Amino acid sequence: MIYRGLNEMSEDKSREVSRHQGKGRSSFSGKVGYVLAVAGSAVGLGNIWRFPYLAAKYGGGIFLLVYLILMLTFGYALIVSETALGRMTKRSPVGAFQAFGGGAPFKLGGWINAVIPMLIVPYYSVIGGWVTKYLFEYMRGSTQALAEEDYFSGFIANGSSVWWFLIFSLAVTAVLFAGVKQGVERVSKVMMPLLVILAVFVAVYSMTRPGAWEGVKYFLIPNPENFSWMTVVAAMGQMFYSLSIAMGILYTYGSYIKKDVDIEKSTAQVEIFDTAIAMLAGLMIIPAVFAFSGGDPDTLKAGPSLMFITLPKVFASMGFGTGAGIMFFLLVLLAALTSAISLAESGVSTFEDQFGWSRHKATVVMGAIIVAFGALSALGFGVLDFVSLFGMTILDFFDFLTNSVMMPVAALATCFLVTRAAGLDRIAGEVMQSSAFKRRRMYNLFMKYLAPVCILIILVSSIANVLGLISL
Ligand code: PFF
Repeated sequence: MIYRGLNEMSEDKSREVSRHQGKGRSSFSGKVGYVLAVAGSAVGLGNIWRFPYLAAKYGGGIFLLVYLILMLTFGYALIVSETALGRMTKRSPVGAFQAFGGGAPFKLGGWINAVIPMLIVPYYSVIGGWVTKYLFEYMRGSTQALAEEDYFSGFIANGSSVWWFLIFSLAVTAVLFAGVKQGVERVSKVMMPLLVILAVFVAVYSMTRPGAWEGVKYFLIPNPENFSWMTVVAAMGQMFYSLSIAMGILYTYGSYIKKDVDIEKSTAQVEIFDTAIAMLAGLMIIPAVFAFSGGDPDTLKAGPSLMFITLPKVFASMGFGTGAGIMFFLLVLLAALTSAISLAESGVSTFEDQFGWSRHKATVVMGAIIVAFGALSALGFGVLDFVSLFGMTILDFFDFLTNSVMMPVAALATCFLVTRAAGLDRIAGEVMQSSAFKRRRMYNLFMKYLAPVCILIILVSSIANVLGLISL
């Protein structure tokens, strides 16, 4: 979801010259506007679709615990860094990395941050297409058919899923073209509270089904027996993804805020909000796996399809199932659309800023990237299902490549930018313009030692794992 952020971005385009001098840059109207913009970018398919399936697959409660620890430590330090660097340099990632000199390696660091959203938005749009199809089917009243065991696998295997993907990407590209984001933003302001209310309602319903309590326990109580190293790899990737870290977004948002925005406090608020929504989605979906499939390990490990398999069963068993299905998929669709727009917008601004392209040209190229990579991901479940990249489907591969490989590299680049180029004291100076920076010592420790070492270990082990060198 997005709020004001996009608006600010587009306004900013007309001030190209002054932007590079750091003057005349637009800013968020206030502290609340900023928190809403970042929370809006954070809440999306990552919370509702991705978090529950990863938690189900990688150990339930133990995944949640690892996720929470990583979020409060690494996540916190990285959000503070990206925001402070953005505010300090008044640039988006490529510019921010170049602002301190440092030569080619830093240039590369900026670029990797900028390229990640361009690779995410195509497969994000494939999932967006699935959501659109489900909304359409609920509106036609196919509530029972959607709950059938093989409905989802049949749907993604037949070529029609590509059309739904194209409809979704067309909507995204059209909005970028028209630059009419205000309407979308207004919708998302109403949508967020509605989504929370509906999610609470569905979660309570799902948790009170017979047999569901086992699922609640599986999701909330850490069991060390379910731990594997992949739990850490997946939790770290999810943390980046969900909080919109390590993809350049927060540099850009940071560059719009004024010096009186308390970076520490707003970071904490965004983390709490984002995690609350993800946990709510977990409580909707995981107990339902236990209630409707008896905690079947295959269903728990279903991966990207989990939301589309379990929720229809919940809706089919409810009194107002069709209405609930329509509402739910409509809200998720809006969340997905606004997030996809903000990811794509970030790609478009990179093209405009770095290559001096017109908005028109930048949008056409971004649209082409979405269609090319997205179609590959969608067809990976159908005519291209023989393609296996390191044992993964094409969509899973893009997801793995961005979240488990590129984002850790981007985060490492930020650590180096902070410690080697900008300097920890300068970051502290920036943060302290608006708050006491109580966690400064923890922050320094993380940025200097813990974050780079741990990210490196996780990165190397996850690559070795897919290459078959080790087995996690
Ligand atoms: N954080 C979003 C999610 O969890 O779905 C993904 C995302 C959307 C990242 C928009 C970045 C962004 F600009």
